[in-house]
Amino acid sequence: MNQSFSIPAGDFSHAGQAASEIKRLLKQLNIPPKVIKRVVVALYEAEVNVVAHSFGGSISCTITPEHIDIVVSDCGPGISDIELAMSEGYSTASSEVREMGFGAGMGLPNIKNNSDSLDISSSEQGTSIHMRVNFKEHTP
Ligand SMILES: Nc1ncnc2c1ncn2[C@@H]1O[C@H](COP(=O)(O)OP(=O)(O)OP(=O)(O)O)[C@@H](O)[C@H]1O
Ligand SMILES: [Mg+2]
Repeated sequence: MNQSFSIPAGDFSHAGQAASEIKRLLKQLNIPPKVIKRVVVALYEAEVNVVAHSFGGSISCTITPEHIDIVVSDCGPGISDIELAMSEGYSTASSEVREMGFGAGMGLPNIKNNSDSLDISSSEQGTSIHMRVNFKEHTP
């Protein structure tokens, strides 16, 4: 199953639409609630990042019996230092974005913690984030 969404830049009213649509879909598929939560957190953070930090982009989700693959791509300006961007508390969010309650610098670390694999590539032409969440629950 495949589902795509477009994410306009700067439109915070739109952010979270893909996450809630995918949440609904996974519920229908009887995916464990804990797994759904991981997907929704990771997807929501990636969505907000496209709205807050990029020129706009799109999301593509592929659901198989084993996992969900999510690719979030945008049209730039890119992340110049991915390692730095991944560190907790690092944020370049504007004061407008911070006033809306974002900009703690926790989005990318949250995506990392809530996905089973994460691959980020970026250039000035755009950023592409590929994340996968397995449906089989983790044993602690
Ligand atoms: N799609 C993107 N395009 C360009 N830069 C990005 C993108 N996603 C993240 N970044 C950069 O990485 C930084 C860290 O992102 P992260 O999501 O961890 O924190 P944040 O978005 O600033 O704050 P929070 O997610 O806690 O609201 C951002 O401040 C921004 O500089
Ligand atoms: Mg963020």
